[in-house]
Amino acid sequence: MISLKNKKVVVVGASSGIGRALSKMFSVEGAIVYLISRTREKLGKVQKELSGVSSIHTMDMLDDVAVEKVFEEIGAFDFLTFTAVSDKTKLMSPIKSMTNETAQRGMEKF
Ligand SMILES: NC(=O)c1ccc[n+]([C@@H]2O[C@H](COP(=O)([O-])OP(=O)(O)OC[C@H]3O[C@@H](n4cnc5c(N)ncnc54)[C@H](OP(=O)(O)O)[C@@H]3O)[C@@H](O)[C@H]2O)c1
Repeated sequence: MISLKNKKVVVVGASSGIGRALSKMFSVEGAIVYLISRTREKLGKVQKELSGVSSIHTMDMLDDVAVEKVFEEIGAFDFLTFTAVSDKTKLMSPIKSMTNETAQRGMEKF
């Protein structure tokens, strides 16, 4: 298995669910974990559960300017995990009522 010791690991969607669980696992493995979602308070709770070095960054992944700013702050990283899913994309709606933009976002994960 790859060693995560001192590797920079970015988790988009770290404040709950899979992202939260992965963040804890990466931290136990010695990674430097960059916790990202929209909600600082929820990320703060996750950070308290981690054993190693981590930092909190808030952004709405649908906001290109915010995404660019956060990734500039973080700089080079080793691994990215992306578990966030936006409720605004309405990807679970009937396909015949989806706009082209929504369908395109499904392909892009956002
Ligand atoms: N959990 C499972 O067992 C499971 C199984 C199969 C598939 N999945 C799929 O895996 C994905 C993740 O599941 P999950 O259980 O981890 O979901 P979750 O607990 O709802 O977590 C979603 C994460 O995405 C973040 N998020 C939502 N909108 C965002 C936005 N616009 N910008 C930035 N961050 C945003 C949320 O944080 P904030 O609200 O703080 O922004 C949260 O951290 C979903 O697509 C789910 O359907 C889950």
